[in-house]
Amino acid sequence: MSDVTDTTDPTGDDMDELNDAIGAAPPPAPDLPLLRVTDLKTHFQTARGVVRAVDGVTFDLDRGKTLGIVGESGSGKTVLSRSIMGLLPKRGTIREGSVLFNGKELTDLDAKAMRDFWGSQMAMIFQDPMTSLNPVMKIGKQITESLRQHLDVDKGYANELAENLLRSVRIPEPEQRLKEYPHQLSGGMRQRVCIAVALACGPELLFADEPTTALDVTVQAQVLDLMAQQQRERFMATVLITHDLGVVAGRADDIAVMYAGRVVEKASTAVLFRDMKMPYTEALLSSIPKIAEPSHTRLATIPGRPPDLVNPPVGCKFAARCGYVQDRCLEEEPPLLEGTEPGHHYRCWFPVGTPEGIEAKARNDAARAYASSGGEVDVTSAASGAGGSV
Ligand SMILES: Nc1ncnc2c1ncn2[C@@H]1O[C@H](COP(=O)(O)OP(=O)(O)O)[C@@H](O)[C@H]1O
Ligand code: SF4
Ligand SMILES: [Mg+2]
Repeated sequence: MSDVTDTTDPTGDDMDELNDAIGAAPPPAPDLPLLRVTDLKTHFQTARGVVRAVDGVTFDLDRGKTLGIVGESGSGKTVLSRSIMGLLPKRGTIREGSVLFNGKELTDLDAKAMRDFWGSQMAMIFQDPMTSLNPVMKIGKQITESLRQHLDVDKGYANELAENLLRSVRIPEPEQRLKEYPHQLSGGMRQRVCIAVALACGPELLFADEPTTALDVTVQAQVLDLMAQQQRERFMATVLITHDLGVVAGRADDIAVMYAGRVVEKASTAVLFRDMKMPYTEALLSSIPKIAEPSHTRLATIPGRPPDLVNPPVGCKFAARCGYVQDRCLEEEPPLLEGTEPGHHYRCWFPVGTPEGIEAKARNDAARAYASSGGEVDVTSAASGAGGSV
């Protein structure tokens, strides 16, 4: 069960036929991006108190573009994507803010109205293919059911389209695969089937939530390349969610870095890697394993833990783990500040690479070095000496 053995070009007649069946996309709303998320909050009522899983997220996504959403586990990435898609239970969930899709406000719609959007206009690929595939239903049926539900095509034509879809995601012997159950395929092939199911009705927007995390390293790049190819051909917008900044590095147009339910830095991918301003983004970057290093198999993690989302700290949410922290950070939460390049925003009082950031880091490093050499120094108060605030 190899993951890629079919090297035929899936573009051409098969894809044209499929795209014709899917029909033309609805006319775009003028002057609006495909997706506009404004100050979206998603909180959960629990016995412990209110969990602020998503706490005021704003971003735009244009047609045909890829937004990478990056952050450690628990930063709110999955809740954000499910909240946009209306895939969270109503009970115990408090959702505020706006989600405009093609100019239409989605937060007002009930589950029944949202069902028309799922599959046909927005679709999702999950981390574990087994959770989204029905283990007791043949693959062919899983695809044709979705096609027939949304496209009003007869059984024979739906079968033909399903076979073409499997071919388009480079699954060898598609005719045979349609008759198989999910457990008969490898993990990589199963994720390809999920991509085929997600793409079946030609969505304009695809959420891919850690789509390759559960896959073998060698298969990860193949699946990501396949998604990128499908996106280009369909001019589809994609939200690529991952904990690994390395995954989105060459694949996203823009990147939003999430921490404790907020976007803490946002920029085009080129600007983010050239001029990152958040110490958290810098820490995420240094946690990517370097292939050249002999110990590349060991993933460096950021020391400490993300804050409690029921009782978050008053100031900057990253303060307890930040190498640049100063007194001001503990007292005042930084707003989303504008960088020098258009579209670059970040939340930090002592940004990476700026004179105040360099000074803050040097002060903390010196205090730490002194403490480890036997001196007893409180890092925070040592750091808050002259020049400790901006
Ligand atoms: N239904 C829920 N009820 C309470 N807390 C939740 C619920 N779903 C998620 N959370 C919490 O919200 C936070 C964000 O979760 P999630 O979006 O899954 O993170 P990520 O996808 O970035 O790993 C976590 O602290 C998680 O425990
Ligand atoms: S505001 Fe302060 S604690 Fe927060 S990231 Fe910037 S330097 Fe670190
Ligand atoms: Mg998640």
